[in-house]
Amino acid sequence: MIKLSPSILSADFGYLAENIQECAEAGAPYVHVDVMDGLFVPSISIGMPVIKSIRRHTGQVLDVHLMIQDPIRYIDAFADAGSDIITFHLEAAKDPGAVIDAIHAKGKKAGLSIKPATPVSAAEPYLKKLDMLLIMSVEPGFGGQQYIPSSTEKIRQARHLIDSVCPGADLEVDGGIKTGNVEMVLDAGANVIVAGSAVFGGDIRANTKAFLDIAKKRPEGCLYYGGRKEGKI
Ligand code: DX5
Ligand code: ZN
Repeated sequence: MIKLSPSILSADFGYLAENIQECAEAGAPYVHVDVMDGLFVPSISIGMPVIKSIRRHTGQVLDVHLMIQDPIRYIDAFADAGSDIITFHLEAAKDPGAVIDAIHAKGKKAGLSIKPATPVSAAEPYLKKLDMLLIMSVEPGFGGQQYIPSSTEKIRQARHLIDSVCPGADLEVDGGIKTGNVEMVLDAGANVIVAGSAVFGGDIRANTKAFLDIAKKRPEGCLYYGGRKEGKI
């Protein structure tokens, strides 16, 4: 089932609750929150207090993408702030298995992310424990970048592995996704679609709806906020 996860990195933070509400009303079931520490990636974004506030304003799934060094230090804090899915970077963790266990110990879903230069095979040992694998289709750190074409082959490989090892897990793709290339990403096997600038740049409701309209026509079906499902599943 396809899930759209608008990345608030491109939202207007002065109107964050309103921007998120527009996505929710248009039907996006997830909100993607990018946490950057200025160390694992050059930029610094937001942290626990903002997630706590978002949690009070929406019932959407909070899909938290940690771009932070040594993530095990902050798993409890991000879980307590109200995250539903916590995704961390393979390249940032000393013991990825321990981070996954820490996320599960807090009753949250665990995601593992790999950067464009990291092969899918590096994530393979952890797949069985994972709820989601995140393939970065841009270098993590900034919104509004161009999709890296070689990501499509990585998505195909990851879909193949997930189907054989952990068929229930989600496959998320993040970076440079627009209505013009989302079908290619879905065809390759992704089912959780992150879109930042393509949702928050311009008319948020219309942009969200445009993605969902593409998704609902597909055989996988599409999840809407509120649990409504559209399309053939
Ligand atoms: C980049 C972030 C993305 C970013 C995507 O490091 O992980 O979630 O917001 O932005 P777009 O969709 O504009 O590429
Ligand atoms: Zn992200």
